Amino acid sequence: MDQSELALKITGVGKRFGATNALSSISMNLAKGEVLGLVGENGAGKSTLMKILSGAHVRDEGEIEVDGVRVEIREPADAQRVGIGIIYQELSLFPDLDAVENIFIGREMSIGKSPNITAPLRKRAMRECARRILNDVLSVEIDLDCPVGALTLAQRQIVEIARTLNSNAKILIMDEPTEALEKAERERLVRIINDLKQAGKSVIYVSHKLDEVLRICDRVVVMRDGACVADLPASTLDVNKMIGLMIGGSLAKQFPTKTSPGADPILKVEGLSRRGAFDNVNFELHEGEILGVAGLEGSGKSRLLRALFGDGASDSGRILLKGRSISIGSISGAMNNGIAFLPAERKTEGIFAEHSVGWNLTASSLSKFGGVRLDRRAERIQCINHIRKMGIKSEGPQQPIGKLSGGNQQKVLLARWLLTEPDVLLLEEPTRGIDIKAKADVYQLIASSAQTGKGIIVVSSDNTELLGLCHRILVMFEGEAVGMLDSASASEETIASLSIQRT
Ligand SMILES: Nc1ncnc2c1ncn2[C@@H]1O[C@H](COP(=O)(O)OP(=O)(O)OP(=O)(O)O)[C@@H](O)[C@H]1O
Ligand SMILES: [Mg+2]
Repeated sequence: MDQSELALKITGVGKRFGATNALSSISMNLAKGEVLGLVGENGAGKSTLMKILSGAHVRDEGEIEVDGVRVEIREPADAQRVGIGIIYQELSLFPDLDAVENIFIGREMSIGKSPNITAPLRKRAMRECARRILNDVLSVEIDLDCPVGALTLAQRQIVEIARTLNSNAKILIMDEPTEALEKAERERLVRIINDLKQAGKSVIYVSHKLDEVLRICDRVVVMRDGACVADLPASTLDVNKMIGLMIGGSLAKQFPTKTSPGADPILKVEGLSRRGAFDNVNFELHEGEILGVAGLEGSGKSRLLRALFGDGASDSGRILLKGRSISIGSISGAMNNGIAFLPAERKTEGIFAEHSVGWNLTASSLSKFGGVRLDRRAERIQCINHIRKMGIKSEGPQQPIGKLSGGNQQKVLLARWLLTEPDVLLLEEPTRGIDIKAKADVYQLIASSAQTGKGIIVVSSDNTELLGLCHRILVMFEGEAVGMLDSASASEETIASLSIQRT
């Protein structure tokens, strides 16, 4: 590669966290106008490297050059100054401020240097500039006056990209940007990345969606255990080759073999309605059954799942657990009835970041270990078992969960609910952010859990996952259950077409 074409050059970068060697001697380049994919298992070191580039972590050794000039990145302001911007999945916007204020946060004075410019004039200029970036550069319409907290996740992500562009970033880092997006929104992001590329910007794209990486990126770097193990043009790769490089072998089987569910319904939902959320939903969940729920954002699939967990009251209808009508007025009520729920927004709803991995694992099943006076030994053994079973990469049960990689935090939370041994397990996007090998482990654990007679409901925006894992799939559209498909005969197309129209 011609050195003058390089936007970024990393040489021998290393980083340790205590006993963990997160990165060892990483070297890689990024050309101007290039989209580079960065893949690897959970805990491989992808986010650590990106955080070093964006100033959230400081490297222990190595050199970073931007546009052929050696730079020192010790804090986020340094990264911004040299033109590196990062879009985190857990977005960093201020929810109470509107899009314009967020796009200009910390840079209000970049508009109208004159000391005489009045506040309303500056506000108008900022608004015009924000509108130009959003409409003309990114070609999206976003309400500039509403607090960004009220925008959808996809819209907030776009505001975050606009903010990065406004700070004159030449290199944009996206760390798992599409994990929480619907298909149409993912397509829009792909289009935006292409436009950025055409405009000469460089993008580093970190993702577990390997097919997407192949489609979007020019080149792919594969990381394993803190090292770069491959750096190849995307045109020479396919998904299987990438998996091989990521895990150093081939993947035996993505989905477990399905065993037949029992004859008895464990959960029955009759005419469940909540105005504006879901209407007259009926279904049965059998012992040993894994039932999928598909539907677009806003179809009511998440609100239905949450209603089963006592989050928000229903206007009418009944929920019967093992033939007994239960009234779930609260989350603790659901837990007392043996219903457990894994939320999709684990960062905000599930994690106690300061506490240890072990603490987070057993937080919901303490009664198993003796309630008030805990059997610490039994608790520790269970923790170690689950850490091993799920391949959770950590220094052990005592490490704070906040120090784990994103995917490994997800695995801890899933293990927490499996440990509670509920009758009914409700899982919302159970494999979001999890690497391809860990996904197979998680599917296996869900299937074994079902084989012990539990009923499991999985809400997912990944139709391949629903077809591979579930026995049947309930499809939601505008609050109504519009179909119940047998996954043996259904296809991704049938799910997709039911998801966008009434039958
Ligand atoms: N602040 C920290 N303190 C201690 N260890 C850390 C810290 N941040 C990351 N690590 C460790 O460094 C390693 C690499 O983590 P990193 O977050 O970079 O992985 P990743 O490739 O982004 O994984 P994922 O796909 O799960 O997001 C992991 O073993 C992780 O536990
Ligand atoms: Mg990560």
